Amino acid sequence: MERTLILVKPDGVQRGLMGEIIGRFERRGLKLIGMKFLQMTPALAEEHYAVHKGRPFYDALVAYITSGPVVAMVWEGNDAIAAARSTIGATKPAEAAPGSIRGDFGMEIGRNLVHGSDSPENGMLEAAIYFSDDELVNWSRVTDSWIIE
Ligand code: RTP
Ligand code: MG
Repeated sequence: MERTLILVKPDGVQRGLMGEIIGRFERRGLKLIGMKFLQMTPALAEEHYAVHKGRPFYDALVAYITSGPVVAMVWEGNDAIAAARSTIGATKPAEAAPGSIRGDFGMEIGRNLVHGSDSPENGMLEAAIYFSDDELVNWSRVTDSWIIE
């Protein structure tokens, strides 16, 4: 079972799209196991985006992700990484498919609304940045047999 760390970025929160964005993962069939609303610190942003340090867009990225509160969530499922990334859409919203979050609500790469982990390994690592083990909920969903064969 894969886990993905999803963020509703500050533009998604400020634009009143939290419910819309969360609902898309929920309706897809991913299972929520952790959620919190928080203001990211520069230190947390640097830990989250360490892989991008040194890139030309890095400073703007840290400024963006710390510019207001975010919703951090962990969603679980078979192929959770790929499923969440297709629900999110391409990194550049102008190239994202209609029906995806970025394709429906975004215009620019620097305001692309959502983060999703890019590999199963990073899903586990990123979940651990935001959540301790006892903040993740182990629960059974009554609809599982209608979503998972
Ligand atoms: P994310 O990590 O946020 O889910 O997005 P992603 O995998 O689709 O894209 P990634 O390559 O990991 O880039 C992380 C975030 O950095 C910003 N970015 N800006 N100006 C630029 O050229 C540029 N490139 C990346 C975006 O906010 C992107 O989501
Ligand atoms: Mg990424």
